[in-house]
Amino acid sequence: MCGIVGYVGKQKASSIILEGLKRVEYRGYDSAGLAVLEKGAFTVLKKTGRVDNLVKLVAPRKFHATTGIGHTRWATHGGVTDANAHPHLSSDGKFAIIHNGVIENYVGMKQFLAGKGYTFQSETDTEALVNLIAYHFAKEPANGDRSRFLESVRKALLHVEGTYGIAVLCTECPDEIVGARKGSPLILGVGDGENILASDVSALVSRTQNVVYLKDGEVVHLTEKSFSLSTIQEQEEITPKIDRVSWKVEDAELGTFAHFMEKEIFEQPAALENTMRGRFSADASTAIFGGLNLTAGDLRQIDRLVFCACGTAWHACLVAEQLIERYARIPVEVEYASEFRYRNAPLDKNTLVFVVTQSGETLDTLEALREAKRKGYTVLAIVNVVGSTIARESDGGIYQHAGPEIGVASTKAFTSQLVVGAMLALYLGRLRDMSYSDGVEYVKALKQVPELIKAVLTQAPHIKAIAKRFSHHRDFLFLGRQSMFPIALEGALKLKEISYIHAEGYPAAEMKHGPIALISPDCPTVFFAPAGEMFPKLVSSIQEIKARKGQAIVITTTGAEFPPGLADERIDLPPCHEAILPILATIPVQLLSYYIAAELGRDVDKPRNLAKSVTVE
Ligand code: AGP
Repeated sequence: MCGIVGYVGKQKASSIILEGLKRVEYRGYDSAGLAVLEKGAFTVLKKTGRVDNLVKLVAPRKFHATTGIGHTRWATHGGVTDANAHPHLSSDGKFAIIHNGVIENYVGMKQFLAGKGYTFQSETDTEALVNLIAYHFAKEPANGDRSRFLESVRKALLHVEGTYGIAVLCTECPDEIVGARKGSPLILGVGDGENILASDVSALVSRTQNVVYLKDGEVVHLTEKSFSLSTIQEQEEITPKIDRVSWKVEDAELGTFAHFMEKEIFEQPAALENTMRGRFSADASTAIFGGLNLTAGDLRQIDRLVFCACGTAWHACLVAEQLIERYARIPVEVEYASEFRYRNAPLDKNTLVFVVTQSGETLDTLEALREAKRKGYTVLAIVNVVGSTIARESDGGIYQHAGPEIGVASTKAFTSQLVVGAMLALYLGRLRDMSYSDGVEYVKALKQVPELIKAVLTQAPHIKAIAKRFSHHRDFLFLGRQSMFPIALEGALKLKEISYIHAEGYPAAEMKHGPIALISPDCPTVFFAPAGEMFPKLVSSIQEIKARKGQAIVITTTGAEFPPGLADERIDLPPCHEAILPILATIPVQLLSYYIAAELGRDVDKPRNLAKSVTVE
């Protein structure tokens, strides 16, 4: 959480920082601020609310500074106030800092620094760190060497317990930035006569596509023409690996859509096409993955899979569990990453661990990965963001290639995780007992997904009308069985996170064990009732809802027949292979949630209290 941008070069730093902050605003939007360094002094502007508020503050100012830092905040320590917004200055006025993460031992640090005469203006943990840097700078001999600034940051960080991605400016070194990371992402953009630091590739792709992903425990010192990388602890110089980013600026732009969520829902056919591209065998009977780093022989030894993830990605794991168990007959367990790391679950010898994450930066998922690796397990990652921390720390994995997802509510990343899960079930199934002809049929079904999604998307106006009809309700139930249960959970999560309507997802047959008490004309149910062997039982459950004067929005299969009046509203899915049904069934609930939130005038892409990637515990 929190977005970071730092610039040193020849251009007007404030403009580049504001543009970058707009692109990383989805990481946190409680407040925004920037500091520029001109004629040996800082100008700091900061304001609660969105980056637009900061833009208004900056507009009348004539900044010429070519070095600066900026930040968008997701509050942890200290309320959402102008004073707590970043950047923070040291009380001697010599340092400015922006920080993403949590300094756990800041209370002791503050006490120590207060004893040395340093003072504090905010309630944040970050202000303790910037003053600690100032303290070490004051202690360092002034030898005119550029490294004095770097050494002060490094020494201060040796005392930090917690997580950080930081960028620091110093009045005595006006054309330099020092950045460092531990547990929070930080990326260096290597430009032409300029260098940029950011928490996210999207903040720097308009300036350069050459990047260096900092690793935990690394510190970087940059000027407009050069940069050097070293370790915080051992002070060892590191030879940087410069990667090239394939994202283009346009990938992260809204175009003609009203919101990124809407754009991302509608670009799912193309996104899922990209997820599958080049990943089917020449005989079209199985999937192929380049980056697993495990042979077919290794995979045949595996007798259990554990999937760890959070939120929407966790729902994708629940679908993968059902498909892998059904088609590959391998037992699967799905764990909340946040629980897994503390649960100390006993794992069998031949267990393979998967972590699933859009951002590749979710701290709980990262720590689950580290915990599993510490115990000696191979950990593979299903990740969307290339070069993210989880992608780099895993033993191998599968990139989703869904493109940048900006809307805080995950949509295309979720369906691309479903596609990867379905392909994994196919791949593992074909390594075991799935026949050639079943494999061919499965591949054929997967290849149809983009076209079938397009067909479901044509119902958007109908779903918009349903959203209008039901948007005044304050409670919803989402019910489904088998592979529709995780989609019910996902539908409920989508609705609550962007519209602030209470919604619960439940296995449909569990309704009678409790949630049926909620059924009333005021609490509509979104009910997944696709054609298939469970259909008669699903119809009975809907009848139980109707008998209690509940309303049912039924998501079903074209041609499925219901008793008259059973469905208050009906959304049809094309008949399809059961492995791809969860993917198609997701589209109506994404649209329904989106249109309800839009109807209520919610801030769809930046819902309250949330941030796109959760990099704190
Ligand atoms: C999705 O709509 C949510 N905003 C959230 O649950 C998200 O899926 C979760 O935080 C995990 O994120 P990740 O996939 O980046 O790890």
